[in-house]
Amino acid sequence: MTGPIPKTNFNPPFNITRASHLIFTVRDLAKSREFYTEVMGLIVSDEDASTLWLRGVEERAHHSLTLKKTTGRPECERVGFRVFTEEDLAKAKAHFDKIGVKSEFVEVPHQDRTLHFNDPAGTPVELVATMKTVPRMHTRIDKHRGAGALRMDHYQVLVPDVLANAKFYMDLGFRISDYIYVEAAQRVVGTFLHRKDNPWDIVFLTRSGPRFHHGGYVVEAFEDIVRACDVAGNLGFGDRIEHGPGRHGHQHSYYLYVRDPDGHRTELLLPGIQIIDIDDEPVMCPVKPNANSNLWGLPAPKSWVEEATNFSGVEIKQTQDGTPMTAERYLAEKTKEAVAT
Ligand SMILES: [Fe+2]
Repeated sequence: MTGPIPKTNFNPPFNITRASHLIFTVRDLAKSREFYTEVMGLIVSDEDASTLWLRGVEERAHHSLTLKKTTGRPECERVGFRVFTEEDLAKAKAHFDKIGVKSEFVEVPHQDRTLHFNDPAGTPVELVATMKTVPRMHTRIDKHRGAGALRMDHYQVLVPDVLANAKFYMDLGFRISDYIYVEAAQRVVGTFLHRKDNPWDIVFLTRSGPRFHHGGYVVEAFEDIVRACDVAGNLGFGDRIEHGPGRHGHQHSYYLYVRDPDGHRTELLLPGIQIIDIDDEPVMCPVKPNANSNLWGLPAPKSWVEEATNFSGVEIKQTQDGTPMTAERYLAEKTKEAVAT
């Protein structure tokens, strides 16, 4: 252990390279198509009557987001990582067999061999080395819409025990860029884990879970975030803008959080800082209870703190979340102060 957090295994049993794709179920494919193409600016790689495959304008991978039509509750089916080679998939299977984690190879459209497993919190995960490739569209400005999202960057999952889950991923070579620490309770409540050279691939926050909190796409410039807000407003998605634009107190980028038509939360962000060097060690981000931890602007609203997408067929374990500050509570307290003076 390094202080209150586990240590990274720098010789992992197989090579995960990055967070790469997500699978959601949605009730109205046409409405979701409008949101993801016109507001987020994703490109449609393929579609049929029940499924939509989307990618960022920079991505050569066929899809970073798969939307499947459902008549039931909208859910997150699975989060995806890339491994480097086919051999890494075989090594992953052998590793999971050895440590007693159930895993199985499955067929997934437009993807090569794909391995399914669940992490210790129950998060359904898939690993893939290769999928169909398609042309990058980053210089086809004539095709860009909305934010013109470049590429999937990371996702955030709510879990009851962030350190237990972080340890599982750190044994697989993930590093912690930052962790959120409540000094008064001497408790780590958030871990930001990465394999690629920026601070995030998968983020865990302490809440009842596992539940999917958000997936982040990188944009080229802050203006792209503003354009997404403008397009959202004009297309009737204005009230789906949940939090931001703003800048996190402990993190490295500007953000905007928007809920899609089914409530799945997406983030647009500027590229994160670079983290590669071995001596670039985990940074503790202390938080005080009942404080606004953003650098500027309001804390996240209650919906951002409490609401998330369920994973398909996964039981949720309850925990105390430490009641982080919300915009509603922050404003109520400010109003009380103003009335008192
Ligand atoms: Fe994020």
